[in-house]
Amino acid sequence: MEKKIKIAIDGPAAAGKSTVAKIVAENFSYVYIDTGAMYRALTYYALQKELNLKDEAELLNGLHEIEIILSPGENGQSVYINDQDVTSEIRYANVTNQVSIVAKHRMVREEMVKRQQKFAQSGGVVMDGRDIGTHVLPNAELKVFLLASVEERAKRRHEENQAKGFESNLEILMEEIERRDQLDSEREVAPLKKAEDAIEIDTTSLSIEEVVAKIIDLAQERVR
Ligand code: CDP
Ligand code: CDP
Repeated sequence: MEKKIKIAIDGPAAAGKSTVAKIVAENFSYVYIDTGAMYRALTYYALQKELNLKDEAELLNGLHEIEIILSPGENGQSVYINDQDVTSEIRYANVTNQVSIVAKHRMVREEMVKRQQKFAQSGGVVMDGRDIGTHVLPNAELKVFLLASVEERAKRRHEENQAKGFESNLEILMEEIERRDQLDSEREVAPLKKAEDAIEIDTTSLSIEEVVAKIIDLAQERVR
């Protein structure tokens, strides 16, 4: 019988992590967990409550007030704060531009990691983020680090925004992505980093289908 494994997918912003993670999870009938959505949910909540994003204790109190629920939805995953559907709101620019400030606090990360590990307890999980292979699931049977040039990543986000009818500027997007990657890579606690045993895939000139096929092949080798 096939083993149920844990698959960790990390990488910088807009490398295609959530898109491919969702498809890989569907393929194996695994649970998909978007950990970025959890940091986004807390950021959204903190902005609503006008919490000081630089105050770790205030944010941690905020996090203890909320249950972040990830559930399969129309477009992959719906995100709820307690009973409120915030799936769209957590993608707004004000959240995107401030999430890295929230995500750098040690105690916030500790609490998030605890929740993420609980979600992964049953096995058969695909989890994407920045520190999954390095901290959240250090024993994952498969670790993938997805990369793409910043130009390509900004272009992908731009096209995605345009398809959704959102205002979008390629130059600004590129600057924002670079700034966020820098904050995520340089923070003290669990920075964005390839785990030593992760397999790196540069997706710059790969289609979604090609990336998915590579990851499924790697996973197949490990479920037997
Ligand atoms: O989808 P996108 O790549 O734009 O970002 P995301 O995966 O939704 O993550 C949003 C932000 O959450 C990142 O820029 C990080 O600051 C933070 N994050 C993190 O610190 N650790 C994770 N495991 C996942 C996300
Ligand atoms: O989760 P992450 O921020 O890493 O990226 P994403 O939101 O999954 O992907 C960003 C955009 O790139 C989406 O619109 C994808 O359709 C597109 N894309 C991709 O994910 N992979 C490719 N090889 C090509 C395009």
